[in-house]
Amino acid sequence: MRIPAAILTLITGMVLVLAGLWVGQNVNVLPVDASANAPVYDELFKVLFSIGTILFVGIVGLIAYSLVRFRRRPGDQSDGEAIEGNLPLEILWTAIPAVVVLFVGIYSYDIYDRMGGMAPLNDHSMHGMAHEERTWAGISPVSLDEESGITPLSVDVTAMQFAFIFHYPNAEITSGELHVPAGQPIALRMQANDVIHAFWVPQFRLKQDVIPGQPTLLSFTATRPGRYPIVCAELCGPYHGGMRSTVIVDEPETFQAWVNQNSPIASANNVTPVQS
Ligand code: CUA
Repeated sequence: MRIPAAILTLITGMVLVLAGLWVGQNVNVLPVDASANAPVYDELFKVLFSIGTILFVGIVGLIAYSLVRFRRRPGDQSDGEAIEGNLPLEILWTAIPAVVVLFVGIYSYDIYDRMGGMAPLNDHSMHGMAHEERTWAGISPVSLDEESGITPLSVDVTAMQFAFIFHYPNAEITSGELHVPAGQPIALRMQANDVIHAFWVPQFRLKQDVIPGQPTLLSFTATRPGRYPIVCAELCGPYHGGMRSTVIVDEPETFQAWVNQNSPIASANNVTPVQS
């Protein structure tokens, strides 16, 4: 008994889609997820990886199959069949990519929005200010995270050729490495001294430009204690590749101990770096 070609195609297609979904769910090529928004990003990555797998295996598989199945047999000198147009097929292979691209576009937008990507680059309240006044000094950190009601820990970040400098205003700590407590919202208020840099932590799935003359904001909540690389992700000069630092995510107690140890004003009273 011969299985009809249509049934065979349907089964192959179903196996392909299921296999693609499985690969997407089990793909493990990203670094560890260490921030609250990393799982959101990874969700998108898995969906895109599934779609990519299905398309790649489907298209390359079909080409490989056709190469073998429709190859020229020995002694066959005849011309190929003259085939001209197939409207249903053309509609199908236009509609499928259109739906896929539309879905990916809308879904990506949704994920980007959920990651806070649609928030303005910096605070609205600064736009009316004169250039010299455009610093973070006048901005209440409370306005940065109205939704959760938790005051974020504000850290001033200065990027320059070729280093990141971190300053904790309330604790009066200046550091070459970024220390943050796990589980607390962090607001990085970033400025560049010279050219455009970009603050990137792959484990946080976050990247934000640091621009001279235009302060930018990056907020996140670290979830997994550990040491992660901070990478400058914008070509900023000859030593751009060496412009790296480390973010150390600590348990809150360990972080507080670090603050007490390093703050010049901490010995007298237990300084909390959180602005109130
Ligand atoms: Cu700073 Cu690249």
